[in-house]
Amino acid sequence: MQQYFDNAATSFPKPSEVVEAMVHFQEECGASPGRGAYAKARSATSILDDCRDALKELVHAHEHECIFTCNCTDALNLAIFGIASHCLTNQEPCHFITTAMAHNSVLRPFHMLKAYGISFTVVKADEATGIVNPADIQAALKPETKLVAVAHGSNVTGTLQDLHAIGEICNDVTFLVDAAQTMGHIPINVHDMNIDMLAFPGHKGLLGPLGTGGLLMKSGLEKVVNPARYGGTGSASELLYQPTVLPDYYESGSHNTIGIAGLLAGVEWIQSQRVEQLCAHEQTLIEAFIEGITPLEHVSIAGPQTAEHRCAVFSLKTEMDPHLFAKNLEEECGACVRAGLHCAPFAHDTIGTTEHGGTVRVSFGPFHTIQDVQQLVEGIRRCTQQVLI
Ligand SMILES: Cc1ncc(COP(=O)(O)O)c(C=O)c1O
Repeated sequence: MQQYFDNAATSFPKPSEVVEAMVHFQEECGASPGRGAYAKARSATSILDDCRDALKELVHAHEHECIFTCNCTDALNLAIFGIASHCLTNQEPCHFITTAMAHNSVLRPFHMLKAYGISFTVVKADEATGIVNPADIQAALKPETKLVAVAHGSNVTGTLQDLHAIGEICNDVTFLVDAAQTMGHIPINVHDMNIDMLAFPGHKGLLGPLGTGGLLMKSGLEKVVNPARYGGTGSASELLYQPTVLPDYYESGSHNTIGIAGLLAGVEWIQSQRVEQLCAHEQTLIEAFIEGITPLEHVSIAGPQTAEHRCAVFSLKTEMDPHLFAKNLEEECGACVRAGLHCAPFAHDTIGTTEHGGTVRVSFGPFHTIQDVQQLVEGIRRCTQQVLI
């Protein structure tokens, strides 16, 4: 039987309510929001509005606008290119900061912008834990720094960064958090953490379908963040320039409303369970996994060795080639896991796994049980014994 342990890529399964909401939308509504005054178009608009409200509520983002995107990459691109484009247009000097635990959805836009004269600094992380010292971010700040982009949870080691401390340091510099691995898994308070922009996928911890995501952006930032897309918004069609009213300014084109209907159901499911409770459940899975793996030979966990400072994403270091190990694990116990460099090259440099071709990543979700974890550990034990033979 297949057992899915790749929730860091996208969550599976989804609550039945998510699928039902999508079917319901398509069968009963099916209209495009903001594209008509008739009842079906109005009810499609209400789905978007309700979802924006639910997302803001979840992370205490009452001073933020919610912009829908296709995924977390798209949200990070909007934030990064939006600021870059504004600086370039106004000929303002511009420097960005990120960390060694960043995903390519931050690193590649930063790298691409070098061609336009925008420089960036990658702040190192601790080799053993993947934790970034906030003082190192402070030391990297320059007068022209416009953005600090930090991944809350690493998609390689599961390491959590101290957003409170980093948020305090950022002060007037825009603080962008990549919550791809934590939104829906771990409580986040954008107000207390001084987060200006929070990028999130809808399809991972929020349990919505693929093709959903968003950017929560503090009101007022639209003055320094240009849109990434221009086009029809269903509003002010007589204008040749992009209407500046929010969220239309950033949401050109028809929405993935069927996806957002599913996302709304996912967020409502999380709220009904309470994110604190889901987090506590994942902590017990984390503890069980660490307890099961630690005594095994020929395999070790990268990053934090306790449930503190980590989410339920684990990289396993093995002597075997990671791709072969993942294949063996699937054959041994049906586990779906992800081998390789996980789109985060500097994170692998940090933990010393690049030369080896990366690690084997396993990641848990709200529907996993302790028994699932124990079966996975047993499969890993059997696979590591093959190294001895
Ligand atoms: C830390 C991190 N940031 C960004 C992304 C990109 O998310 P998406 O797949 O929704 O574009 C991922 C995806 O795995 C991720 O783990």
